[in-house]
Amino acid sequence: MKHLLYLKDLNQSQINKILDLSQEYLDSNFSNNHGNLLQNQSVASLFFEPSTRTSASFQVAAKRLGAETVIFFDEDKSSTIKGETILDTVKNIEAMGVRAFIIRTGDIDLFDSLIENINKETCLISAGESSISHPTQGLLDLLSIKQSKGSFENLRIAIMGDIRHSRVAKSLAEGLSIMNTGKVVLISPEEFRPDMNEFPGTEYVADPIRGLNDCDVVVTLRVQEERIESHESGMSLEDYAEKYQLTIDKLELCKPDAIVMHPGPINRGVEISNEVADGKQSVILKQVENGVAIRMAVLTEILKQ
Ligand code: CP
Repeated sequence: MKHLLYLKDLNQSQINKILDLSQEYLDSNFSNNHGNLLQNQSVASLFFEPSTRTSASFQVAAKRLGAETVIFFDEDKSSTIKGETILDTVKNIEAMGVRAFIIRTGDIDLFDSLIENINKETCLISAGESSISHPTQGLLDLLSIKQSKGSFENLRIAIMGDIRHSRVAKSLAEGLSIMNTGKVVLISPEEFRPDMNEFPGTEYVADPIRGLNDCDVVVTLRVQEERIESHESGMSLEDYAEKYQLTIDKLELCKPDAIVMHPGPINRGVEISNEVADGKQSVILKQVENGVAIRMAVLTEILKQ
C-alpha cells in the first residue's frame, strides 16, 4: 500500500490485515507501538475542510507510533491565504523531510495532481475527499461491525440518511462489498438518493419502515447541508426528522441485537434521537476509539516500507 485514497483499491486480505492490526493495538491498550515505527519521521496533517474526529485521531495515532513531529496545518494561518497553491505547500513541507501527508479536501482533482508531482517516496492518505471517499472512516466502520457481529457474510446492513452527498456511505459501501456483506440497504428520501452506479450490489428504498426491517446494523448519516446546492433543497430538516430520524420506535424494527452507528458529527434530534444515540445499542463512541487504532494501522502499513 503506497497511498490510501479509496477502499475499492484494496482487496479483502489487505483490509483484514488492517482490521487485525487495529484490533492488536486495541487489545494491547496501544502499548504495542511496533517499536516506535515513526521515530525520526514526521507526518503532516493538512485539512482544507473542518474536522474533529479524523484530524485529532490521526494526530493521536502518529504520536502513539512515536512520530518525531506531527505538523498540523491550519489553513487560515498558513501561506495559502497569501496565494500559495496546495501543491506548492506540499512540496515545501516535503522539502523539510516529511514523508506522509494526511489530507482532507473538497477538491476532487487534488490527489491526482499531487500524485503526478510529489516525490516517489511520499505517501498520501485521504482524510476525506469531497463527497467521494473517506477510507479510514470506512475501515473503522468495518472494524466496529466486525467487533460486534464477528463477520459480514450474513448481515443485513442499513445506511440511512443523506447518501447522495456522503463520502462515508461510499467508502463504507465499497468496504462492505469487498467483505462480501450479505445485504446493504440504502435508505433516504428521493432527494438524497445517490447515483446507484456508485453503489453496486446495494438496494435503495425510500421507506425507512421497509428498509430497517430485520437489520443487524444501522448506520445513520447527517444531512450534509454544506454540500447541498440551493436548487436541490426541497425537504426541511423538520420534515426529514419526522420521517427518517432513527428513534426507539424505528430501531425496534431491526433485530433486537442490532447496533447503531454514526460517523459523527451528530445532529441530535435530526437524523438520530438522543435516546438512540446514547442508548445501549449505540457503538458511536466505540467507532471513535476504533478510529485511532485504524489510523495507527494505516500509518504502520504505509510507512513500514
Ligand atoms: N467522521 C468524521 O469524519 O468526523 P470529522 O469530520 O469530525 O473528522
